[in-house]
Amino acid sequence: MFEKLKYLTSGESHGKALLCVMDGIPSNLSLAEKDIDMELSRRQKGHGRGGRMKIESDHAQILSGVRWGKTLGSPIGIMIENRDWKNWETIMSCHGRDKGKGVQVTRPRPGHADLAGAMKFSHRDIRNVLERSSARETAARTALGAIAKKLLSEFDIKVMSYVTEVGGIEAQGIRYKAQGSEIKIISELFGRAEASPVRCPDKKSEERIISIIDKAIKEGDSLGGVFEVVITGVPVGLGSYSQWGSRLNARLSYALMGIQAIKGVEVGFGFESARMPGSEVMDEIFYGKRSAFSVQRLAGGFYRKTNKSGGIEGGISTGMPIVVRAAMKPIPTLRKPLSSVDIETKRRFDAAYERSDVCAVPAASVVGEAVAALVIADSFLCKFGGDSMEEIKRNYKGYLRQINNF
Ligand SMILES: Cc1cc2nc3c(=O)[nH]c(=O)nc-3n(C[C@H](O)[C@H](O)[C@H](O)COP(=O)(O)O)c2cc1C
Repeated sequence: MFEKLKYLTSGESHGKALLCVMDGIPSNLSLAEKDIDMELSRRQKGHGRGGRMKIESDHAQILSGVRWGKTLGSPIGIMIENRDWKNWETIMSCHGRDKGKGVQVTRPRPGHADLAGAMKFSHRDIRNVLERSSARETAARTALGAIAKKLLSEFDIKVMSYVTEVGGIEAQGIRYKAQGSEIKIISELFGRAEASPVRCPDKKSEERIISIIDKAIKEGDSLGGVFEVVITGVPVGLGSYSQWGSRLNARLSYALMGIQAIKGVEVGFGFESARMPGSEVMDEIFYGKRSAFSVQRLAGGFYRKTNKSGGIEGGISTGMPIVVRAAMKPIPTLRKPLSSVDIETKRRFDAAYERSDVCAVPAASVVGEAVAALVIADSFLCKFGGDSMEEIKRNYKGYLRQINNF
């Protein structure tokens, strides 16, 4: 799926550390551990997170690919230690001599990879499944996304997100607001989300969302929701219609659906556009030196007054902000017991509860930013690619000149 950026993540939830390696980042990009830590810390926040987030304060160690604060153009290796490791050293040990020191997990939790994963990989201890299928892995993707964001920021491309809905409570006046809005308004929404414990830009809705999360905590239940990722500053021309897999909307959806617990993705007006007549769905085209939107530089003077397409037409960015939305299911680990069957005894039991989040939609929205940033960075490098930042900047400048003379 990725053409220029290649990456892999590794690591178990209670293992020693998470690891990731990414190849394809050009040389001479400024990169510090604190750039990555900032994103890791954003992922750990949010009202409704479980106890673990209090134990872990993630820190990224750059192991390779960076020298004296600049990327080398070689693969970048990152390690994020699991701070809880000391309590898991024997249970998660890689040594055969420690076999059997942990309690065997035989009770699959509904809504998790537990049962299907154990059957697929022939594991009789479900810990072998849940350790890797856990969303702890998203810390690694967030770290890689931080590098992608850093690259994009050199070209004034900003990846932002906010929560539009939790447990059926929709934030008032937020959904679709980014569509057809100026970058300034989108940045304001983002600023308010950053200050909110549930990443909700609307204060009244924020209070309602906090109170339903508190209710779910009390009742031993969990909640899902919807978040929106908005990317501003993307020039016309990323992605392509020429092959299905190059379509930018397809690539973004794939990346977002790759996040644990994401069950649906929309681009622009998405499902809503299926309910509207064609005359109300398309974004009419205008041209002018001074438009109401600060995107002209990105599309050579062509602009839209609306952005129902979510900034993508025919799989290609239009120069308008890119808007994607993802739906997250409720957290499957519940204090309220769910029925399941023990894989050894084949007897019914109430699924066990392990320390868990009650609502992780705010955190998922930060992960959403990261995976979207990786897709946009890859598409950007496909179009303007070079080995060094200097080369890419030159290519980009030339392209902007070209579209401005179009
Ligand atoms: C940021 C984030 C945090 C999550 N935290 C938890 C959690 O604490 N407990 C839990 O049971 N599931 C949590 N999940 C969801 C599960 O990882 C996910 O539902 C499970 O792995 C099954 O995958 P699926 O829902 O994609 O089928 C979280 C997901 C994300 C994105």
